[in-house]
Amino acid sequence: MSFLYGAATAAYQVEGAWEADGKGASIWDAFVRVPGAIETGETGDVACDHYNRWPEDVALMAELGLDAYRFSVSWPRVLPDGVGRVNAEGLAFYDRLVDGLLEADIRPFLTLYHWDLPLALGHWGADGVDDAFAEYAQLLGERLGDRVHDWITLNEPEVAAFAGHYRGVHAPGLRDFPLALRAADSMLRAHAKAVEALPSTANIGVALNLSPCEGDEQAARLADGYLNRWFLDAVSGRGYPTDMEEWYGDAAPDPLPPMPELGFIGVNYYYRRVVRDAPRPLGWEQITPPDAELTEMGWEVHPDGLRDILLRVAREYAPRALYVTENGVALPRGLEDQRRVRYLDAHLAAVEEARAAGAPVEGYFVWTLLDNFEWSFGTSMRFGLVEVDFETLTRTIRSSGRHYGRRIEARRHAGSRQGHR
Ligand code: FCB
Repeated sequence: MSFLYGAATAAYQVEGAWEADGKGASIWDAFVRVPGAIETGETGDVACDHYNRWPEDVALMAELGLDAYRFSVSWPRVLPDGVGRVNAEGLAFYDRLVDGLLEADIRPFLTLYHWDLPLALGHWGADGVDDAFAEYAQLLGERLGDRVHDWITLNEPEVAAFAGHYRGVHAPGLRDFPLALRAADSMLRAHAKAVEALPSTANIGVALNLSPCEGDEQAARLADGYLNRWFLDAVSGRGYPTDMEEWYGDAAPDPLPPMPELGFIGVNYYYRRVVRDAPRPLGWEQITPPDAELTEMGWEVHPDGLRDILLRVAREYAPRALYVTENGVALPRGLEDQRRVRYLDAHLAAVEEARAAGAPVEGYFVWTLLDNFEWSFGTSMRFGLVEVDFETLTRTIRSSGRHYGRRIEARRHAGSRQGHR
């Protein structure tokens, strides 16, 4: 089975050019202007200026030897009001990017929604947002479907819904648990409609942030139900898990419509959840295990969790294919990032173990290609294979990027000896 090595980014985190070409405002353009919302006081107005520097970035991907690149489209760049009027210049940008990738022999994986909802639509859960998403999916399918085969509807609906509508730390900055459940529900309904609106030949998946949950028994079950089963059951057509519907009581949404079958499930993995009992609405809270190795984000490094979650999804949900759609680490700035080299090797070994035990994992995307605008942390968190100097916007490949490139190269040689790639 062929295996793709890639890297991932998201529009708001890299593009900049926030009002360059007739783009409409997104909820993130508004949120970053709320005093105190971003720790560093920055905005993503410029970010990596990828909108203008994309040829250099595609050249970097080619230099690393990437097989695939996962990026997202900014919905308000192509539909400034979320529906209706199309911004031809915005669409043309994605045309150029896709053509540039294909010329460099890099397979595009296109994410429709990586958190930058058109501001005009308000928030997920508001009337009409799911139909607007289907219209947007159809537009992109018609425009890019001849060249883009692989599509991801949503990125991490759990984070978008709960960080944005319950914890208030992401756009749109709301703090209302029942509303967050409705937001997640409307994303899942929108996902179903978007799958139907995309070309029937497309390979379509969704990227879920998943983690093994351990600790106090009830807390671990609730955390697993909230984070993993809620979304996996939903996109697999099983409806919402009954125990969680009971736990949420009146706030639980109506039953879901039938769900379209997917080509793959994307797994974004960063850390496991070690939890203990806590009050409602969640019933659990996360704790840091003693002796944990932590990253700049305060996230525990735990590669076995990636193997375990891949095997579990394969066993319990039998997806046609799995991709690791994100995995990576924030470290202090510097070009010699041996810790990132070790992190990537350990997690790629975990993927190998999962594959050897039968999980149909077909690719792995490092988060991320370039240091970028890490949401509420601004540019302070550096996840890149490539370092970005945010004063000059100069890009420099880190030792981890070189290492990843050598791994891809070594696989190519091994593959060609066996007569396939
Ligand atoms: C994920 C997001 C991605 C990035 C990484 C660090 O939750 O999908 O955009 O912020 O975390």
